[in-house]
Amino acid sequence: MKITKICCIGAGYVGGPTMAVIAQKCPHIQVTVVDLNEQRIKDWNDPNTDNIPIYEPGLSEIVAEARGRNLFFSTNVEEAIDEAQIIFISVNTPTKTYGKGKGMAADLKFIELCARQIAKVSKNNKIVVEKSTLPVRTAEAIKSILDNTGNGVQFQILSNPEFLAEGTAVTDLLNPDRILIGGDSTPEGESAINALVDVYANWVSKDKILTTNVWSSELSKLTANAFLAQRISSINAMSELCEKTGADVSEVARAIGMDSRIGSKFLKASVGFGGSCFQKDILNLVYIAKSYGLNEVADYWEQVIIMNDYQKRRFSNKIVQTLYNTVADKKITFLGWAFKKDTNDTRESAAIYVADDLINEQAKISVYDPKVSRNKILSDLDYLEARKSSANADAVLTFEDSYEACKGAHAIAILTEWDEFTQYDWQKIYDSMQKPAFVFDGRNILNAKDLKSIGFIYNGIGS
Ligand code: NAD
Ligand code: UDX
Repeated sequence: MKITKICCIGAGYVGGPTMAVIAQKCPHIQVTVVDLNEQRIKDWNDPNTDNIPIYEPGLSEIVAEARGRNLFFSTNVEEAIDEAQIIFISVNTPTKTYGKGKGMAADLKFIELCARQIAKVSKNNKIVVEKSTLPVRTAEAIKSILDNTGNGVQFQILSNPEFLAEGTAVTDLLNPDRILIGGDSTPEGESAINALVDVYANWVSKDKILTTNVWSSELSKLTANAFLAQRISSINAMSELCEKTGADVSEVARAIGMDSRIGSKFLKASVGFGGSCFQKDILNLVYIAKSYGLNEVADYWEQVIIMNDYQKRRFSNKIVQTLYNTVADKKITFLGWAFKKDTNDTRESAAIYVADDLINEQAKISVYDPKVSRNKILSDLDYLEARKSSANADAVLTFEDSYEACKGAHAIAILTEWDEFTQYDWQKIYDSMQKPAFVFDGRNILNAKDLKSIGFIYNGIGS
């Protein structure tokens, strides 16, 4: 099948960048990204591509190149489905907040809505691609909906999980470690797989395009995220032991990382992992394991989350303890709110939980983040439903200027590893703070020796 039109349902952190790169690399394919969220589509169509709704290094340039040529953003979901030969489903699959599996299972209501809409609109055969991260065997449910509610046309369902990380989405998409495509081993399934392989082959070498059965592909995505998060919880667990014993977690990470069987990446001890994926996907994995009665498997993976929650709490406790067991009415400045550098995404950011703990202790939080707005920070805190919105608004000040944010502070906490924090004039910051001046470096990005020689009382993670 020659692919000339692709539709992607969901213009979020995955759908937007992924489709922008496909459009850039495949000028012969018309790519339409649709979303129900009108504001989001309006923002993607902003004449100034610096204002697109997702900040990723290099993304606005790609959108500027392809948008209006073969990349379109639209709210007309039905038209885009009708015209496309391949439909990517890239909608959100958050943790359920109600009913059976509340707090654990993935909420598939948006996926089901997509399947029903595709079934209703399609008048010719389609390839439907699961781009969202889904529980293993979801393709079965999608197929059942498509086959039973459709207009008698043929659907092939492929699983093609996305492995990009935020903050490096564009380079990850341009140079992926691998592309994973799961499909049926029937002739129709294989021809669908080949059609999708051909799209990626426009810029990814064929030896990096892996094809598997659908269930392996679905489960590989959950497994990859579980393994990655497990490394962070493992090194974070060691960070506390380092603090007790005089070992230094950065040195330990370096020493073990040089073992080629372990590898050096993803061993940075931190205030705890955040982001929309790791926690959600592991909880989902735990839920799936439990649903098959695999309690030991479930407990094993749940520990990754338990350790991460502990690491976030440990950080806020350390601040309170170090500040003489009270932070009431003290100004604590957060440098960074995003869950990692180079993104404006704050979902599940450790900063939210650390701030919540400190507000409970009646601290006054001042926040500076180069990419996150005051509204976003307050809505993140309101989402926890820990107190009234007005109380959050009273407890949190936000600043456009980092030096202003630090002025008069009792302590500074680094929550995100933005590069600019390492370039600051820390003497100037020290001079403007209350004394003793404390720094809690939740990302181990500052030079401890330099800060101590200025006069700071410096606390890193794991040393
Ligand atoms: P997101 O919330 O940023 O975007 C999802 C979009 O889908 C939203 O704009 C929403 O309005 C839209 N949507 C929901 N239902 C819709 C419908 N029926 N019709 C049209 N639009 C609809 O989510 P995201 O971060 O892009 O994640 C999408 C999926 O990709 C999730 O399953 C996630 O687990 C997975 N994933 C995310 C990342 C990441 O880094 N964020 C990486 C890999 C995989
Ligand atoms: C993750 C996966 O990496 C990606 O493959 C998947 O597609 C989506 O989920 P993402 O959450 O965007 O990507 O970013 P990632 O770089 O994995 O970081 C997640 C969190 O872990 C961040 O809060 C980050 O700061 C933290 N982290 C990462 C550490 O604390 N230490 C590390 O060594 C690495």
